[in-house]
Formats: sequence, structure tokens, C-alpha cells
Amino acid sequence: MKPVAHVYQDLEALSRAVARELEGVARMAIDAQGRFSLVLSGGSTPRLLYRLLAGEFGDRIRWQNVHLFWGDERYVPPDDPHSNYRMVKETFLEQLPLLPHNVHPMPTTHANPDDAARAYESVLDQYFPGSWPHFDLMLLGLAADGHIASLFPGSAALDERSRRVVAVRAPVDPPQRLTLTLPVFNHAARIYFLVAGKMKAGALHRVLVGPCDPRTCPALGVRPEAGTVTWWVDEAAATFIPAIRRA
Ligand code: 6PG
Repeated sequence: MKPVAHVYQDLEALSRAVARELEGVARMAIDAQGRFSLVLSGGSTPRLLYRLLAGEFGDRIRWQNVHLFWGDERYVPPDDPHSNYRMVKETFLEQLPLLPHNVHPMPTTHANPDDAARAYESVLDQYFPGSWPHFDLMLLGLAADGHIASLFPGSAALDERSRRVVAVRAPVDPPQRLTLTLPVFNHAARIYFLVAGKMKAGALHRVLVGPCDPRTCPALGVRPEAGTVTWWVDEAAATFIPAIRRA
């Protein structure tokens, strides 16, 4: 199914729109299956969304039925300034009544990062017994260099088709990371890309307009078999895509 793109004036408007949509998706999932599995993105773009979910939207979602996972993690202690877990904890977790056993951060304290990746695969296998993880909603960012989660252009991890979580060496600091693999993203019900700022205009144009390929633009490898991909972007990031439909 062709990705859908929505353009908003700025990051605030974009974040509000995603919060409203996420509220509805969570309600549908919890009504239908009693739980909602949400994969969080790292980076700075989703911070405002997380703050909105913890604040204004805090009483609109049945948080006790929400299960949180991470799409990737920098291999640093959970209290490290680079930690995606720490960012989520500060902007979101501390304000909401999530049940501790429903919050599944990627482990970063194993001596060997691959052991940590396998430990997280066990977490996913417990939540999705006997099948590929099929998350209700997965949030992703898009870096100026085109990476998504910790799947970087040209990385061998882009070819992974059996592991659900792998340890990778990134070309940016901190280099050691854990990331979900493309098959996991491609089994999701919904993927939301959040992209804001002029810095992202080139990467977004390469992905939505091209020319590019899934090795150079890993986002092109996100093509869920039965799910949908929605791009939530601001005007600055959409600078080079005049034809994109404005919200
Ligand atoms: C990470 C993220 C990464 C991020 C992009 C965009 O761990 O850094 O998962 O994939 O989403 O780099 O980051 P910004 O939102 O900070 O631009």
C-alpha cells in the first residue's frame, strides 16, 4: 500500500496530530485485544509527542493496557544522556501510570551486545509467542543521513531476514547499538515516520520522491506486508516536495 504523507506547519502541529491519531489507534487496539503494543523511536523529534502524551493526552489513553517497546537503543547505561530509554523516561514514563512489567526497554548491560539483542528477542517472543512480532504501532524517525532506528545506509543489518533484534556498529556516536530489523517493521500493523526540520528535507525528498534504493535509503525497506506507512512531516522537512498534500 502506498505510503500516506501529512504535512503540518511545524513540529508542534505535527506532534499534536500524531498524538490524536495514536489515541484512536490505542483505543481500537485495547477495545479489540485488551492491549496496545507501541514501539517508541529515539532521537529528538518525538520528544514533543511524548510530552503531549504524558500531559494533555495523559488521561485519554488506558495506559495500564499499553505495552512499550523500543525500536533501537544506544548501547550505553540507561541513565546515560545518549540513552533513548532515558529520554523516554524523562519525557513520558515518569508521568504516566504504565505498569512496570509492560515497559520493555532494550537491555544495555550485558557484556556482549549480541547477548543483549538475543535477550530482547526473548522479550519479543514472550509477547508474540510463535510468530513474528506484529506491533500495533511503530514510531520511526528519519535521520539526515537516511538512517532509521539504528539501520544505517549500507549496513549488513539491512539484509537481516531472520533475527528480530541485532547489535550493530553505527558510523555515529555512540557507535554500539541495538536495533529491530526490517522484517519486524514489515510485520507491523502501522508505521509512523515523524520527520521535522529543514535538515531532513534532503533525506525526505530522496525517500518520497527519489531516486534512491533501500540500501542508501533504509526507509524504502519499510514496506509492511499487511500494514500501513504514514509520514508525519512539517513544512520545513517537506521543502523540496511541493506536491505533497498539506494537512
Ligand atoms: C536514534 C533514533 C534515530 C532517530 C533519527 C532521527 O536512536 O537516534 O532511533 O533513528 O530517529 O536519527 O533523529 P532526530 O529525531 O534526533 O532527528
